[in-house]
Amino acid sequence: MLGFLSNGLPIYPMPDSVRVFAPATVANLVCGFDVLGLAVERPGDEVRMTRRAAPGVRVTRITGDDGRLPLAAERNTVSASVQMLLRHLGRDADFGVDIELHKQMPIGSGLGSSAASTVAGLWAINELLGRPLTPLELLPFAMQGEELACGTGHADNVAPALLGGVVLIRSYAPLEVVRLPAPPLHCAIVYPHVEVATRDARQLIRRTVPLHDAVTQWGNVAGLVSGLFLNDIGLIGRSMQDVLVEPVRAMLIPDFYRLRELAMHAGAVGFGISGSGPSVFAFAPDEATAAAITEQLQRHLAGLGVGSEGYVSAVNQQGPRVID
Ligand code: HSE
Repeated sequence: MLGFLSNGLPIYPMPDSVRVFAPATVANLVCGFDVLGLAVERPGDEVRMTRRAAPGVRVTRITGDDGRLPLAAERNTVSASVQMLLRHLGRDADFGVDIELHKQMPIGSGLGSSAASTVAGLWAINELLGRPLTPLELLPFAMQGEELACGTGHADNVAPALLGGVVLIRSYAPLEVVRLPAPPLHCAIVYPHVEVATRDARQLIRRTVPLHDAVTQWGNVAGLVSGLFLNDIGLIGRSMQDVLVEPVRAMLIPDFYRLRELAMHAGAVGFGISGSGPSVFAFAPDEATAAAITEQLQRHLAGLGVGSEGYVSAVNQQGPRVID
């Protein structure tokens, strides 16, 4: 910080170039479809954004995507959300940037890949502009990026990616998000190499819900939130049950119910699908247990002939970070 303006707002340095990391996320936290999510330390995506003289937003380079993501500025979620933000601030006619996106996590994995990229981009443009917006004020732009990526502007990936920690979306209209206490738990995440598009996985879900299932689900959501506030690990684990979405999405994941048995047997506190899958996620009491769970699940998948990626991570409390 360089000092204060006459209106009391802090003055930040305005760099010409910035590199930002934004974290992957576990959306839903099993029972909280579209309303709960958490950020992890790794993996995540990086964006390098550089100011240039001419106005306009360009994507100049994407790495790590095997050529799958569009360079066209209006179709790429990073550049499209940056453009929306510049337009909102009335800077689209005088501010121009070049964007490099370095994907460091798999696409279509259920780990909030598009959210991590979008959030890194929004964080970067906000830095280049001297931080006119708070992280919370960046959220609607990130949600519009999510809408472009998968057809709906759900916030349970972008909100934790932006704010860090565990986040509840209490309401979408009006938008109200609440940061919840992060548990002292480790995440074991395994991404089986099968692809599930969020757009498709959302279409599978039942549109009407029997009251009995709704009662079970809201008991679990309230139980999980209570468990986080009470730091009651047993309550957190018992609440990580999803009777609404998991039963239909489980079929997209190789041997899902066996993976759950293995994880719970290896010491998981709770287990379920990460976001819309195919990644699966377990809370573990410590890093060594999380590593053992990840290894068991990967070994089982290998036995089925399914390759996978494994990640062990604490909860990311900070959200995005400027790397240089
Ligand atoms: N809540 C969203 C879903 C997250 O489950 O479809 C997508 O990653």
